[in-house]
Amino acid sequence: MKASAPGKIILFGEHAVVYGRPALAVPVTQVHAEVEIAGSDSTGIWIHTPDINLHAELNSLPSDHPIAAVVHNFLFLSRTFASPSGRGARGEGRLPHFNIRITSTIPVASGLGSGAAVTVALVRALSSYLNYPMSDEEINAFAYDIEKLHHGTPSGIDNTVVTYAKPVYFVKNQPIELFKVGAPFTIVIGDTGIPAPTKESVADVRKHWEADKEMWESVFDEVGKISSEARDSIERGKTRELGELMNQNHALLQEMTVSSPELDRLVEAARKAGAIGSKLSGGGRGGNMIALVEAENAGEVSSALVSAGAKRTLITTVS
Ligand code: PMV
Repeated sequence: MKASAPGKIILFGEHAVVYGRPALAVPVTQVHAEVEIAGSDSTGIWIHTPDINLHAELNSLPSDHPIAAVVHNFLFLSRTFASPSGRGARGEGRLPHFNIRITSTIPVASGLGSGAAVTVALVRALSSYLNYPMSDEEINAFAYDIEKLHHGTPSGIDNTVVTYAKPVYFVKNQPIELFKVGAPFTIVIGDTGIPAPTKESVADVRKHWEADKEMWESVFDEVGKISSEARDSIERGKTRELGELMNQNHALLQEMTVSSPELDRLVEAARKAGAIGSKLSGGGRGGNMIALVEAENAGEVSSALVSAGAKRTLITTVS
């Protein structure tokens, strides 16, 4: 039984989205997490994640381990084991034995949604293997609970775009809105190679906000306006308009102190190489930046990013 989930990038609105402003995110299908589950003769549930050299039986891992937590929560939800009340609906006390193999081509802690993708792929695989069907809505809610466990106060945008694998206009605590792409456009993603925990940049932005709520609310308002305008431009197929909006969004992220010299260098290099616009993407401080380019210019921008220090680049078409 196999399942997979794509990576993602945030096009507009990171950080402000935590404060209720809209953000836009799209799936990146060139990279993905894949989970394979197969029956096993050895006792227990074995987790194999060769990328991080993890080979362990479920119960030997701490219960809040990101992968173990997904399996425990799933087994509890599906009542594969008896619930604490002793009223498990299915298979009470029956210990399933199987192997879970997790692989991913999504760089970790770089803003490409690797954690959310592993969770979603794992839930999908468990759901099929243990014959407990789940809707996208249920998978999304499940993945959000796991994100909360590890990221404190996530907006929920990562799990949403990764679950639905479609462009998402996201407002925290609002029904999910998918949006149409009027004309396909090309994005070059540049990775600084610097792992940057989103939790820290989110916490720092919160400190600034707490010190001067009025000022930061107005910055977040500006970002929210950019996200709404960007959605409108994308739906009308006026993708050139996105360039300037990206540049403006990047300046506001710099104000929020979540850019870094390395990110700024890549953002500048992309523009110099002819990108229509560029900005950091995700939590910031490290991780990725994105550049909007003409398809025929993607190679040139990608080379310029590598020369400016990008550890890797990826070209993706949003359609
Ligand atoms: O670093 P990423 O790509 O997981 O992006 C996080 C986006 C933030 O807006 C910074 C946080 C959030 O929970 O929305």
